[in-house]
Amino acid sequence: MDALLLEAVRHEAEQVGAVMVLGAGISGMQSALDLANAGFKVYLVDKNVSIGGIMAQLDKTFPTNDCSTCMISPKLIEVAGNPNIEIITRSRIRTLQGGPGNFEVTILKEPRYIDEEKCNACGICTTHCPVRNEVYLPEKRRADIDWAGPDEEATVNRIIATFREERGNLLPILLGINTAFHWLPPHVLTYVADELHLSLSQVLRVATFYNAFSLTPRGRHVIQICLGTGCFVKGSPAILDRLEKTLKIKAGETTKDLRFTLETVRCIGCCALAPALRVDQDTYGNLSGGQIPLIVENYA
Ligand code: FES
Repeated sequence: MDALLLEAVRHEAEQVGAVMVLGAGISGMQSALDLANAGFKVYLVDKNVSIGGIMAQLDKTFPTNDCSTCMISPKLIEVAGNPNIEIITRSRIRTLQGGPGNFEVTILKEPRYIDEEKCNACGICTTHCPVRNEVYLPEKRRADIDWAGPDEEATVNRIIATFREERGNLLPILLGINTAFHWLPPHVLTYVADELHLSLSQVLRVATFYNAFSLTPRGRHVIQICLGTGCFVKGSPAILDRLEKTLKIKAGETTKDLRFTLETVRCIGCCALAPALRVDQDTYGNLSGGQIPLIVENYA
């Protein structure tokens, strides 16, 4: 038996059956799950701080524009909960030795500057980060507020007063302001931050997280046409075309009289009625182009 063959036999005899998957994007996670479900111990290694890769940062996926998070979230949970998968993040391979079935790997793990045993991702440390958050300067900010008129100031103060004493009051206050003005003007956000003794970045984090909030002026009525897969194949692009012609604006725009904002969304939860659209809280299904002028007229 020559040396090469001996080596191969030795490796075969020492196979331990653990597998390392490099890169914890969508393909790495699926590979890890398949291997773990087949009974292998899997080490899932990624250089980033968390798993999910590029797909976790995307809003939509090509070509259907389906929600990326909706697809990847179940896999993240499955990977994290699989007892056969050990996740090793913020790590890189330093050395690799051995052969199939019996590799020996040295991993360099970057520091996280937190106690991983204790951290439960509550986010409080981010909120209090002195580097990320600007210093609170109430006097200077208050002088800068440039109100659109006395009504605006009175409305904002009324909304703040309603929720001031409540815990977690930022969200209802922003909701109230968004409902009153149909968007969140920048000077109002600064004022809210002042009043609640929060940094502007804390307020903006909430204001930019929820779809319900808008940082640009919106119409009194918001028309959302569904371009999700179900509605798309049933002809919603033609409905959108009709809406754009009727309102004389493109998707994403607001009419000059601030009456309507036209938006496209992916699935509004009534696929059986495709093609469908929503005006504020009202849903319209089984649409044809001819119905569009009538629907718009209802709100004019
Ligand atoms: S795809 Fe349009 S409502 Fe679901």
